[in-house]
Amino acid sequence: MTTRRKFLSASITASAAAMMGLSSKANQKTIDNYKSTTVIKPLIISTWHHGIAANEAAWQVLIQNGSALDAVEAGVRVTESDPTITSVGYGGSPDSDGHVTLDACIMDHLGNAGSVAFLENIMHPVSVARKVMELTPHVMLVGDGALMFALENGFEKENLLTPEAERKWREWLNKREDVPQKINEQYHDTIGMLAIDTNGNLSGACSTSGVSYKYRGRVGDSPIIGAGLFVDNEVGAASATGLGEAIIKIAGSHLIVELMRQGDSPKAACKIAVERILKKQKITKQLDAAFIAVNKAGETGAFALRKGFQYALYQNNENRLIDCDFLIE
Ligand code: GLY
Repeated sequence: MTTRRKFLSASITASAAAMMGLSSKANQKTIDNYKSTTVIKPLIISTWHHGIAANEAAWQVLIQNGSALDAVEAGVRVTESDPTITSVGYGGSPDSDGHVTLDACIMDHLGNAGSVAFLENIMHPVSVARKVMELTPHVMLVGDGALMFALENGFEKENLLTPEAERKWREWLNKREDVPQKINEQYHDTIGMLAIDTNGNLSGACSTSGVSYKYRGRVGDSPIIGAGLFVDNEVGAASATGLGEAIIKIAGSHLIVELMRQGDSPKAACKIAVERILKKQKITKQLDAAFIAVNKAGETGAFALRKGFQYALYQNNENRLIDCDFLIE
């Protein structure tokens, strides 16, 4: 195993160097310092069909030589403010008590991270997460504390429950379902986004209103660094979508970055994470999960537990929606 890992690690290092037009000698050194000698092609990868619009906004940042961090924040904000997306931000499905509660996080190329969970009445939790990262010594603020922090930093309180989301919640209430959880109601969920900028730096962000009609106070994977998102600028980045409970239990995004560190491709790493869920967890109707990943060389990949997951890739001036490979039909 050690030999294979070493071989794979050497191969990926060599292929990254080859993509940068560098000789295979002193690969590790050149990868650490390639910024000054190479032109990096920016890219953005994000979850679901709502990723297409989010990628557009992020791309505008990248093509003006903006940072990956600014790009992912700008991209995720598009999904957060779209009332037709019922799984993120404004228009998101409420919890079982009728409150829209939001989770989000962000992570930059230096390993800085910020996160908010169980945040109410703020349209852009990803931007609050960024403020947590930049203005506090903490990583995560939740609930009333997160709301107070947001208001102190210029965010405004808004009603995020749209009439349509309220109507559907009342319908659900009347049915008095035993299981107060639904995912992928419209074949989408969390917006997870990863970007590489023209300096070759990686950042990521994700944001969600979580599982529809969840228990009040429930927090999913999206604000948890290592579960919904992980970025290591030396290796790559990953983000998750699907049932947060399943993703948290395997520390999904961190697992994928560590697998890439040991030589797995982004797609292979995502597949191993999905297989880990399948092997270790009870398969219920609610259980679905998918991952996207990018490595330092700009290779991307994704894998889903079930059929239906799509991801959006903006690369080489083209923004494409891609059907993801999966384990279960
Ligand atoms: N992946 C979103 C959530 O479970 O909350």
